[in-house]
Amino acid sequence: MFNKLYQLLRPLVFLIDPERAHGIVIFLLKLIPFRLLTGGIATSPRLRITMWGRDFANPVGLAAGFDKKAAIIGKVFDLGFGFVEAGTVTIKPQIGNPRPRIFRDPVNRAVINRMGFPGSGVEIFKRNLREFLGDVSRSQRISSRGISSQGVSKGVLGVNIGMNKDQTDPVNDYLQLLKELGNLADYLTINISSPNTPGLRNLQEREPLRELLTAILEARARMFKNLHLPILVKLAPDLNDDQLREIADVLMGLKIDGVILTNTTLDRPDTLSPQFAAEKGGLSGSPLKQKSTQMIAKFYQLTNGQIPIIGVGGIETAQDAFEKICAGASLVQIYTGMIYQGPLIARDICRGLDEILKSHGFADIREAIGSDHRPAKGKIDTIDALYGEQPTQQTQATQQTPPYHANVKDHAQIVG
Ligand SMILES: Cc1cc2nc3c(=O)[nH]c(=O)nc-3n(C[C@H](O)[C@H](O)[C@H](O)COP(=O)(O)O)c2cc1C
Repeated sequence: MFNKLYQLLRPLVFLIDPERAHGIVIFLLKLIPFRLLTGGIATSPRLRITMWGRDFANPVGLAAGFDKKAAIIGKVFDLGFGFVEAGTVTIKPQIGNPRPRIFRDPVNRAVINRMGFPGSGVEIFKRNLREFLGDVSRSQRISSRGISSQGVSKGVLGVNIGMNKDQTDPVNDYLQLLKELGNLADYLTINISSPNTPGLRNLQEREPLRELLTAILEARARMFKNLHLPILVKLAPDLNDDQLREIADVLMGLKIDGVILTNTTLDRPDTLSPQFAAEKGGLSGSPLKQKSTQMIAKFYQLTNGQIPIIGVGGIETAQDAFEKICAGASLVQIYTGMIYQGPLIARDICRGLDEILKSHGFADIREAIGSDHRPAKGKIDTIDALYGEQPTQQTQATQQTPPYHANVKDHAQIVG
């Protein structure tokens, strides 16, 4: 009913400049009690998964860029999302690129953006985070986050950090952001893949990447000794096989906690209208779907599934999410899909995903992750053979950490 209404109103919404429409959506999200429509965070025993010691009620998250200022976190959970990644936040406020800087292509269900990390800086972001979190320490919060013993879903909170445009020493920006925000996030994403900040993507090269992450991981060990903070890296889809192999090597060597695949692409497929394709910036939505799924599959194979992946790019349906999970993603995120399918997309994808998992005979998501790379999809004995573990019961799976990632077990012990 609500979805039909959204589809009817969409042409009107699309008459409004995309950035202005985004502002209106944020305003409406604050106003409309979506929780009454969705019942809050969607969940089911099949959809629950524990990653990095955090309980995710479902694997569908809101991607970075939507809630740049961490202003509507609670409202995102009301839409049914299992987690939200706020940001990208930079240390200093900055205005970003001149407007207009977001463009839609409804025929291809795509968006091009060249935002350039506009935002009010880390102080306001932190104030908003604190407002959402209330006055609780991180250790208290972690133990009460995810699915509580009363079965109440609370949602997992990621924070995505990036460097200011005028920064000449990127490591310094990331270290400051880690210090400011590490204590408030369930996980931190190092964004080195947005195409709209000059020089940012160069940090994906082997040595700069190693240097940046080594500094971050050392600082984490110093600053947050007792509270393990998972560090994830968000990568671009525009990497060739050699570059991806090099990055996988570095990330495996440093035992990074996870990767997000992928950010927007600089590609311009032939199907796009010439006027839209001529806009500078990163392309997202349907035309990115295949490319990001392929990258997930490659990365999963390169790392033998040992680094958890959050899959993002062109997800609009439960089937899209399922394909990313089978390719190797443990969790998924959505941005552009919400623009085209409406605010209840997370709830709908969770419902559909639950059905799809069931129809394939998967007891839970854990069994589906990376199943494309195993000979017999969904066969428990195959999972057994691969990981050398007994299959878990549905109920156990919600409490257990995935068997495929040694670090995850460590993290669970430290945090849990
Ligand atoms: C308008 C817009 C702004 C974005 N801003 C950010 C951002 O600040 N940081 C980031 O890591 N990704 C950002 N992204 C990328 C998304 O998080 C996501 O990786 C990408 O859009 C692919 O997913 P999708 O096809 O579901 O949109 C942005 C995307 C869009 C469309």
